[in-house]
Amino acid sequence: MVIIKTEREIEKMRAAGQIAARALKLAGEAVRPGVDTFEIDDKVRKYIESQGAISSTLGYGGYPASTCISVNDVVIHGIPSKKCILKSGDIVSIDIAVSLEGFHADNAATFACGEISEEAKNLLEATKESLYEGIKKAVVGNRIGDIGNAIQRYVEARSYSVVRDFVGHGVGAKLHEDPSVPNYGTQGRGVRLLPGMTIAIEPMINQGTHRVKVLGDGWTTVTQDGKLAAHFEHSVAITKDGPDILTLCE
Ligand code: MF3
Ligand code: CO
Repeated sequence: MVIIKTEREIEKMRAAGQIAARALKLAGEAVRPGVDTFEIDDKVRKYIESQGAISSTLGYGGYPASTCISVNDVVIHGIPSKKCILKSGDIVSIDIAVSLEGFHADNAATFACGEISEEAKNLLEATKESLYEGIKKAVVGNRIGDIGNAIQRYVEARSYSVVRDFVGHGVGAKLHEDPSVPNYGTQGRGVRLLPGMTIAIEPMINQGTHRVKVLGDGWTTVTQDGKLAAHFEHSVAITKDGPDILTLCE
């Protein structure tokens, strides 16, 4: 069931989104060669706590951290670790969700560590751009399929692939609500978008095959071919005035 939010609830989600966005910025600034991903998670956890907010991922289905930090061929759900030490040339996807006063906001971005290859830069740019292509379609009267279709067309035109096994989602009083928001699809299909719907749009885009596998820890999700993956995400409210991005850094 899709839950429509009031304007007041959307403002609460924007407050959560503000903290999630600042936490993501802080995490991105901490990405540099020699840093381990546990250190980054620790900074984020402290920041979220300092704001009186709660990490939505810490303890979620047993997930052990306040961030997901996914390096190179790790697509999503990389678990921060002292053993995972960043080096120049890595691409680092960081996903952060927080809740404040009962409402969640969710965002992610992929950062460059030191100097990255031209191919990696292009992947990051295309993935980020595909998120905005999707957001543009998050308007009243469109359908969920319009969002996924825009993302899919944008990335496949650049010979990248869209992960199928994981998708975006509604977000609100719960981190994951209806509807599912696939990053692929058909124009004019799926749930119709109404004012007050709030969704997390999160293209996960691979350099090679769209196929992924989950490692033995039950979380870490990698590309099957070992090629790079990128991930960008915003929480967005659908309003009569168009898409309203709730996870912007002011
Ligand atoms: N922020 C992630 C998302 O986009 C949450 C991943 S679930 C977790 O849905 F358990 F890994 F935290
Ligand atoms: Co999400």
